[in-house]
Amino acid sequence: MDDIGPKVRFDAVTRTFGETHAVDSVTLDIAGGAFVALVGQSGSGKSTLLKTVNRLVVPTSGRVAIDDRDVAADPLPLLRRRIGYVFQNVGLFPHLSVAENIAIPLRIAGDRDAVRVDELLDLVELPRALATRMPAELSGGQRQRVGIARALAARPRLMLMDEPFGALDPVTRDSLGGAVRALHDRLALTTIMVTHDMAEALLLADRVLVMERGRIVADETPSALLAGEGGTTAQALVAIPRTQAERLLAIER
Ligand SMILES: Nc1ncnc2c1ncn2[C@@H]1O[C@H](COP(=O)(O)OP(=O)(O)OP(=O)(O)O)[C@@H](O)[C@H]1O
Ligand SMILES: [Mg+2]
Repeated sequence: MDDIGPKVRFDAVTRTFGETHAVDSVTLDIAGGAFVALVGQSGSGKSTLLKTVNRLVVPTSGRVAIDDRDVAADPLPLLRRRIGYVFQNVGLFPHLSVAENIAIPLRIAGDRDAVRVDELLDLVELPRALATRMPAELSGGQRQRVGIARALAARPRLMLMDEPFGALDPVTRDSLGGAVRALHDRLALTTIMVTHDMAEALLLADRVLVMERGRIVADETPSALLAGEGGTTAQALVAIPRTQAERLLAIER
């Protein structure tokens, strides 16, 4: 890969919904090529913050820039074409085949001749024979992989993933997580991944951001978090997988 993914800057980004400060004055720099996990409890503002990057949500104030260019500066199709987005609930079109679902970002971009469905299925390790299936004929894990293939279709350098492994069994979740990290490395992407699962964040990301009530309350590497850094909210989240692991080890003994 010739170059690495873009850097992303959030500059005092706030988004309110009525009285709710979904995102509250977030300032943040994400380096090009980084794999960043955004964790926090339900309702802490993770999805809202993520969506300000591809303008699914417009900030009430503040701005977001990709490689120093304000995301508000470009027409939406142009912006979205450069950003892969994996939805919180997969969001495949039920009446379209796997191949048609994957090709949607390319069709929106008017790029009819470049539909590389086979190549994209290979990339996410799905059999090419699945191309003609309908989403209802796939397992949950296969559907998530199709969602990832679709997000990669227009060759974005920036990936936004909102709970990409939601509602999967732990084994599938684990293998798909590894596959996503491998893709990130191989394609030299910048990835921002929302998850409520701290163990997943610690295992996959270079950097973990913890959100609470619209704010970033911790910004640490996995090793710093595991060494006890990041404050109480972060440490409460780190304690969950750690306690589980300790209980399991106790059973073993
Ligand atoms: N379109 C909207 N209209 C009104 N309120 C909203 C809207 N979107 C989000 N909110 C509110 O903003 C807050 C943050 O929501 P957000 O979806 O960003 O949380 P989250 O951290 O992604 O949660 P989850 O883990 O449950 O997906 C919540 O209180 C939510 O109810
Ligand atoms: Mg969410």
